[in-house]
Amino acid sequence: MRNSKGSLMRPDPLPLSASHPVVTPLSPSVVYASETPDALDDQYEGRVHGYTYSREGHPNADVVAKRLDAMEGMPGGVVTSSGMAAVSAVVLGLLKAGDHIIGANQLYGRSLRLMKDDLPRLGIATTLADPGDVEAVRGEIRPETKMILVEAVSNPTLALADIDGLAKLCQDRDILLVVDNTFTTPRGFKPFEHGADIVIHSITKLLAGHSDVMLGYAVARDPAINEQMRIFAITTGMTPSPFDCWLAERGMLSFELRFDRAQATAVLLADHLATMPGVKRVLYPMRDDHPDHALASLLLGTSGCNMVSFELEGGRGAANIFTREAEGLNFAPTLGDVGTTLSHPASSSHRALTADERTSLGLSEGFFRVSVGLEDPEVLLAVFTQAVAAATS
Ligand SMILES: Cc1ncc(COP(=O)(O)O)c(C=O)c1O
Repeated sequence: MRNSKGSLMRPDPLPLSASHPVVTPLSPSVVYASETPDALDDQYEGRVHGYTYSREGHPNADVVAKRLDAMEGMPGGVVTSSGMAAVSAVVLGLLKAGDHIIGANQLYGRSLRLMKDDLPRLGIATTLADPGDVEAVRGEIRPETKMILVEAVSNPTLALADIDGLAKLCQDRDILLVVDNTFTTPRGFKPFEHGADIVIHSITKLLAGHSDVMLGYAVARDPAINEQMRIFAITTGMTPSPFDCWLAERGMLSFELRFDRAQATAVLLADHLATMPGVKRVLYPMRDDHPDHALASLLLGTSGCNMVSFELEGGRGAANIFTREAEGLNFAPTLGDVGTTLSHPASSSHRALTADERTSLGLSEGFFRVSVGLEDPEVLLAVFTQAVAAATS
């Protein structure tokens, strides 16, 4: 290969253009070449902006980070290769052996596993508590408690964390309040406005929104903490792929429209399910029969979320018929896709629990969590009507 300067392998520069592309270019380059050692010094010393090696940063990740920074109202966030990488960058990047962390008792399954198995192995003590009960959390605080990790709305019972109360608890004690805002999204809830210190997202879900990207994000109020998380993510190789970032940016352009549409349909679906014979109960935070409705109104206003949970009569047998009869809906353990997806905690996210443990969380064999998508609401409601009737008649 020979370019215009006659060198062997150096690629030709892109043709100059007086106009610019309307779509962010994809930059898969792993390395970035500099003109001279002095120029590289300028970059490393922060006198000019530039990239060196893509594990340390690349343009497509920065574009995604800036968009999310703007949505959460906090600069300096870090994009990681998955939502769990973001959780790990926060917890493992900031805590050390001898520290103690309190986690919400209904965290996402892998976050729970981190709390139960991995952190204790590394000498970080963990306790689980109900994040809706500030006094219960207060009772677990020790002198070495450094962090509280909660989800604003948790999976799959859609319980609310008392973020305002927890923030007050943390402020007095120099404890970091970390909020995983994946379910609620920045459109539904702004944790920093309620006193959070760090916000986490699985971009994989509603933000990217098409089930074709795996990415995460974490941002802190304190720039020094952002730097600490960034260095840890670089050192441990949590780097996101440029292509995933490129796809995520594209998905995020329509995120707000998708969220509004999905959550409006979720309201309709929750109310519809509540009227259906064969449905024992419906959980949706914006309904006044949800146990945390008052807290939900306080924190989420009228935005709600796109997740609806419900319990069918008839146990596993009814559940099997329901997923088979729910025509066009994927029975798949994810959320935030353009299409509505059904999740059955007893056979997926919560299968490692004993039946008794599941019962204590209210997760029977008839319990489903629905991530509402962008289908025509009338068509979607008709599918549920038919599938519930078939499963429970
Ligand atoms: C609330 C929450 N946090 C974090 C994660 C992990 O994200 P990822 O699957 O992108 O690693 C998930 C995944 O479902 C989640 O639901």
